[in-house]
Amino acid sequence: MRGRVEGKVVLVTGAGRGQGAAHARLLAAEGATVIVTDIHKDEAAAVAGAIGDASWHARLDVADQASWAELGARIEDRHGRLDGLVNNAGIAVMADLWATDLGLFERIVAINQTGTYLGMRFGAELMKRSGGGSIVNVSSIAGSRADPLFLAYTGTKWAVRGLSRAAARTLAPDAIRVNVVLPGIIDTPMLTEALPELDVAAFGAQTAPLGRTGQPVDVARAVLFLISDESAYMTGAELIVDGGVTA
Ligand SMILES: NC(=O)c1ccc[n+]([C@@H]2O[C@H](COP(=O)([O-])OP(=O)(O)OC[C@H]3O[C@@H](n4cnc5c(N)ncnc54)[C@H](O)[C@@H]3O)[C@@H](O)[C@H]2O)c1
Repeated sequence: MRGRVEGKVVLVTGAGRGQGAAHARLLAAEGATVIVTDIHKDEAAAVAGAIGDASWHARLDVADQASWAELGARIEDRHGRLDGLVNNAGIAVMADLWATDLGLFERIVAINQTGTYLGMRFGAELMKRSGGGSIVNVSSIAGSRADPLFLAYTGTKWAVRGLSRAAARTLAPDAIRVNVVLPGIIDTPMLTEALPELDVAAFGAQTAPLGRTGQPVDVARAVLFLISDESAYMTGAELIVDGGVTA
């Protein structure tokens, strides 16, 4: 049986662990060739190694333009095309307005916001030459309301939505779609590192109307749909994957 993204070449950022790793695994299971990237090369290598022949890995710092240029050239050499890009890499640091100094603010913006912009520039360039493609940008429910304890994170996740809609309109004539996922409370190292005291399972069970914390694969299923041709008439759209938290 043909996979849902059979034959597509898809790049996932921040895929060394957490949701990005789940996206890479599911896309590969559905027939894609997945380029597993992360700032931590060893973690990307482990994920790609477990997937096997359907993937390869590379170090990519999403905030660094030169890193994107280098990887873009490698993708061009190896495949001559790119069909999908998941701009998933991100960081979260708990800090309200008073606790956020300029250095922290700029670091979070560089990865979550500038990284998404750079990914769209480099990804769309390759996709244009491939005859089209699908970009999925990862926002958050923090990008649909205000989380005062995560000031810069909230700002960048709102920004991802605006960047995505503007780019969706620019890229539509080239058959490149740009959509957004807004995950809710998802059980990954990000959550436990940002909030070490949190009981992740209990928090999701109490907060989400569906009664549980989300798992990375819950978000991966939405990403798979948006990368696949099943979402061919969707661009500039958003999928909330939060078990009803923001309902
Ligand atoms: N976990 C949640 O509850 C939650 C909720 C909403 C949105 N999100 C978003 O989902 C995405 C994935 O988060 P996660 O929960 O899997 O987090 P995670 O911390 O487990 O994984 C993030 C990955 O990004 C990588 N990364 C960090 N900086 C990078 C850089 N400069 N370049 C390349 N890679 C870099 C990390 O090494 C890590 O492997 C993020 O954009 C995050 O903001 C997470």
